[in-house]
Amino acid sequence: MKLKELVLLILVLAISVFVTRFLVTVEPAHGTTPTGKELYQKHCASCHGADAKGVEKMAKMLKVTIRDLTKLANIPDSTKTWPKIIADGKAKMPAFNKKLKEAEVSSVIAYIHTLAPASGKSETPAAKDTTKVTK
Ligand code: HEC
Repeated sequence: MKLKELVLLILVLAISVFVTRFLVTVEPAHGTTPTGKELYQKHCASCHGADAKGVEKMAKMLKVTIRDLTKLANIPDSTKTWPKIIADGKAKMPAFNKKLKEAEVSSVIAYIHTLAPASGKSETPAAKDTTKVTK
């Protein structure tokens, strides 16, 4: 039946328009607070890498060691200092206290923890956490 086909076509078009609009509007996350992952990728990945293991090129450029955060994340004493390091900066590490709220710093740290292998596995993380080359 002609009419039925037409109705079906309109329906399909309407759905696809709806779906694309939905996808487009949802992605930039208007008004909602960005997730730790989004914040990390925006502010940290350039130096620390999407996997938090450190960007070697950046380390060379800055002439510093960028340590593998996924290994440090399993050392409780090390993560205790992170909120302060991220807020105030440390050596070549820039301060983020003007860019990130306290809660955002926490969610970024939480995200880094999701990148770290489960802490149950004992790989003596303290012994070799300086994997990145400096020069
Ligand atoms: C311009 C490059 C750069 C950016 C961007 C950057 N960092 Fe860093 N980060 C560094 C460097 C370099 C160090 C090592 C500082 C030092 O010499 O101890 C560091 C150290 C750290 C440390 C301490 C690790 C350690 O060695 O004990 C943490 C945690 C950290 N960064 C998290 C972050 C987070 C989270 C962000 C994003 C909000 C971020 N960094 C953005 C360069 C950067």
